[in-house]
This record gives sequence, C-alpha cells and structure tokens, in this order.
Amino acid sequence: MSKGQKLLNWIDARFPLTSMLKEHVIEYYAPKNFNFWYFFGSLALLVLVMQLLTGIFLTMNYMPDATLVPGTKMSVAFASVEYIMRDVSGGWIIRYMHSTGASMFFIVVYLHMFRGLIYGSYKQPRELVWIFGMLIFLCLMAEAFLGYLLPWGQMSFWGAQVIVNLFSSIPVIGPDLSVFIRGDFVVSGATLNRFFALHVIAVPLVLLALVVAHLMALHEVGSNNPDGVEIKQYKDPETHLPLDGIPFHPYYTVKDVLGVAVFLIVFSSIVFFMPEMGGYFLEANNFFPADPLKTPPHIAPVWYFTPFYAILRAVP
Ligand code: HEM
Repeated sequence: MSKGQKLLNWIDARFPLTSMLKEHVIEYYAPKNFNFWYFFGSLALLVLVMQLLTGIFLTMNYMPDATLVPGTKMSVAFASVEYIMRDVSGGWIIRYMHSTGASMFFIVVYLHMFRGLIYGSYKQPRELVWIFGMLIFLCLMAEAFLGYLLPWGQMSFWGAQVIVNLFSSIPVIGPDLSVFIRGDFVVSGATLNRFFALHVIAVPLVLLALVVAHLMALHEVGSNNPDGVEIKQYKDPETHLPLDGIPFHPYYTVKDVLGVAVFLIVFSSIVFFMPEMGGYFLEANNFFPADPLKTPPHIAPVWYFTPFYAILRAVP
C-alpha cells in the first residue's frame, strides 16, 4: 500500500472524506444531456471563491475610515483604495478582479436563474433549491450594495443616501429604521464602519451557508435538464445507479473546465483592457471623493440593480 493510500485510510477511519467525495463528486450521477446553460452554477462557485480571496487581500490594505486626510478633501477610505491601486504590489489587479468579479457574479447568476426559469427547475421536487437560490440572490444584492459604499466616492455616498432613505418611507418604523441602519442621522463614518463589517464577514458567512444548503438540496433531488428527464426514476436493480445518468467525474468535471476556460478569457480581457467597462462596472463619478455638500446630477446604481431602480422610479 502506498503512503498516500495509508494516509487516506487513516483519514477515512476518522472523517468521511472519500465517501463524501464519492457521494457528491466522483459518483454523483447527473443527467447525460446538460448543455451550456449548466455551466453557470459552477461558474458562480468560481466567482464566489474569487471574490472571497480577492476580498481578503483588499481588506489587508483598505481602511474603513471616513475622516479626511489632513490638507485634502479625500477620506482615509478613498485614499486607501488609491493606495491599493498605485502602491500595493499587485493591488491594482486584486481590486480590478474584485470590482469586475462583482459585475460578473451578477451576469453569471442572472444566466443561472434564467436557465432555471426556461427549464422549470423551480418546480417539484426542486422548490427548495430555488428558494435557497432566491435567498442567495437577496444576499448577493445586499453584499454588492454594502461593498459599493466602501471606496467612499461620490456614487458610494449618494447611492447609499438614496437607498437608505427608502427605508424611511416604511410607515411607522421607517424613520427610526433608517437611523438604525446608518447608525447616524446622515450617511457618515459610523455607516461606513458597519457596512464594512457586514460586507466582509456577516453577509459572506450567510452567503456561504446558503450556497452549501443550495447544493445539498440539489444533490438530494438531482439535477433537472433540458428534456426534463428525472434520472432518479429508473435505477439499475443491482447497482442502484440511475440508468439515465452519468457520473459527474470525469464527464462534467471536464465539461465544466471548458466553461471555466471561456469564462476566464472573458474575465481577464475585462480586467486587463476595460476594467471600468465604459462606466458600467466602475462608475466615473465614483472616482471623485465623497462630498456631502455636492450632489451629483445623476445618481444611478450599477447596471445590475437597473431593474429594481426602474421599479423604484416608477413609484412616485
Ligand atoms: C452564489 C450563487 C450561486 C451558486 C454558487 C449556485 C450554484 C449552483 C450549482 C453548482 C448548481 C448545479 C449546477 C447547475 O445546475 O448549473 C446549481 C443549480 C441550481 N441553482 Fe444555483 N447557484 C447560485 C445561485 C442561484 C440562484 C440565485 C438561483 C435562483 C433563484 C439558483 C437556482 C438554481 C436551480 C433551480 C438549480 C437546479 C437547476 C437544474 O437542475 O436545472 N441558483 N446552483
């Protein structure tokens, strides 16, 4: 027996490593007919990991501090982002990966949700997969909104101002609620500090837990597919393996690598050649430090909030 096998046996006697890998990856059975729409779940996982990793490195140099750098009109927070972009080794690529990752997360998740809609993947028996998905989407929007305040630019400040004010229109509790969210009567340093705490730990923890629940629910019922074949319906009487399915590894590990390769080509083209994406991924106004005395003429959220912004503007 090789040393590696011995180590694995030692671990398996104490922790269900091999059986877990077998159940959820190696011998996890999936339908035979996945098409490109099925790339976006694994891509969402990839972007999630990328956001967590780049986020950790950004946190090492970012300062959630709204006080002004002496002699300037720039907050310490804004200056720390400029410092990351100009002075920290590799800081620029980490930040652009994180800002591009935010938009790509929404592109991938919107396509992932669209797939669920066109193939009826929200129906029985996958209702909980869908419900966990919707909770993930809510968390993702909260995470993006909280993160957007951190550079403390004009759009960060005024965007937060508009959205937090929305809560004050809730009857009875609204005004108190908005003060509770901000930690102040206006968007201030207290708001920046709490948004930072929520963005770097609270919401990501919930997001991770929800993704685990999402995948556990999916593995309980099995994947849907473009033809709606329920692979758990017909099993081999001897092996109890689905007759209409194939093992995830190597068939879909290899297929997913293709999706990852294409995604990384698109992703790196954006990071290296057009990180601002013409103002869609990074808005021009957010390159100005926050100024509570100067409202920008147009306060518009980043593109992925556009449908919700349209709803908001439709209500007088
Ligand atoms: C961080 C975000 C998310 C991650 C990492 C994620 C991950 C995954 C993965 C890996 C799969 C299996 C592969 C696939 O079917 O593509 C999957 C399936 C699924 N996801 Fe997600 N997901 C996320 C968000 C969402 C959202 C927002 C929704 C909907 C509201 C959703 C609904 C579904 C459904 C319905 C399936 C089963 C699809 C089928 O079997 O046809 N997911 N998810």
